[in-house]
Amino acid sequence: MEKIIINTADSFSEIHVGTAWETVHEMLPHSGVAILTDTNVMELYGARFPDFPVLRITPGEESKKLEVVEMLAAKLMKAGIDRDGFILGIGGGVVCDLAGFLASIYMRGIRCAYVSTSLLSQVDASTGGKNGVNLEDAKNALGSFKQPEFVICDPLMLTTLPEEEYFSGLAELIKTGIIGDPELFEIIGSNQEGIANRDPELLSMCISKAVNFKAAVVTADEKETGLRRLLNFGHTYGHAIEMYHSYRHGYAVSCGMEMASAFSMERGLISRDDHKRITDVLKSHGLLPGHDIPDNQVAQLLMKDKKKSGKDIFFVFLKGIGNAVAEKIAVKEAADFYIHNKPGTKQI
Ligand SMILES: NC(=O)c1ccc[n+]([C@@H]2O[C@H](COP(=O)([O-])OP(=O)(O)OC[C@H]3O[C@@H](n4cnc5c(N)ncnc54)[C@H](O)[C@@H]3O)[C@@H](O)[C@H]2O)c1
Repeated sequence: MEKIIINTADSFSEIHVGTAWETVHEMLPHSGVAILTDTNVMELYGARFPDFPVLRITPGEESKKLEVVEMLAAKLMKAGIDRDGFILGIGGGVVCDLAGFLASIYMRGIRCAYVSTSLLSQVDASTGGKNGVNLEDAKNALGSFKQPEFVICDPLMLTTLPEEEYFSGLAELIKTGIIGDPELFEIIGSNQEGIANRDPELLSMCISKAVNFKAAVVTADEKETGLRRLLNFGHTYGHAIEMYHSYRHGYAVSCGMEMASAFSMERGLISRDDHKRITDVLKSHGLLPGHDIPDNQVAQLLMKDKKKSGKDIFFVFLKGIGNAVAEKIAVKEAADFYIHNKPGTKQI
């Protein structure tokens, strides 16, 4: 059990990793609380929720839109939640993003916290204070920064997570190891069985490491100007692959990480051994489905990356396992590398 503190200029947030989620009962105000969840999480855990009004959304990305925010705000109003109110999100990244966004605008901002229930939200989405909804196909185009007062990450909740969701989240955990914590990468690489069996103690240790890393990055760079860019490792190609193949995010990011690692190797930044180690770990967890964006669509899909500035892109390279660097390169250079090195055209 570990408590990680995120202390930025204007906010304070505590992330409890390895804590039983039911302790949330003791952490909430006595009144003015509304719970936001999705129907899957409600069905599994709703009977043990604290006794407050519960707002339910349909599970999945489709719910991340303004229309839903408006509907939820109206329900908060009806439930009598005023500016002293408190929103508790109990769910994965979609619920946490919606809860955070709603809390940041409802009555010009009310308090919030999360019980984070998916691996992706425990290792990534619920730390850092970013939230948002999608605008048509533009992901997270509307959003804000709002730190939850606390987050609970209970690894036992991950035992009910569907297989694909679990492994998709694992990709972000592996990413953290690759960009900033070689020991975490080693633990994941050498405990394949424990990871696959969702061993709660092992997961607790890995989640703590990932949250610690993200907390340090966020504390140093809350508004994403420099250091925070490193968290996008694998995402440049990953987003393009996700859009073209409609893979779950983590699977697409894994393919993107393999490509970015190969790009780093081509530039002489990492050794062939390191590249192989990265590919082996991703493969051993079934995270490398094939991908093949047609040559004439690669640049166009890379251009949709919101981290793009003009014809350039911030691309995250590796200088070793646990050591990443963001560099501005031309979109064309990134597209050319993909076209000449994607699996199926050339064995990396
Ligand atoms: N704010 C950030 O910094 C940040 C970072 C990364 C991702 N995100 C966002 O997170 C979202 C993806 O999060 P996600 O992968 O958690 O998706 P999700 O919230 O849709 O959850 C995935 C699925 O798992 C189910 N689920 C969640 N917890 C469960 C549990 N314990 N047992 C059984 N089923 C459970 C959900 O009902 C859903 O069907 C995206 O919208 C993404 O943009 C945000």
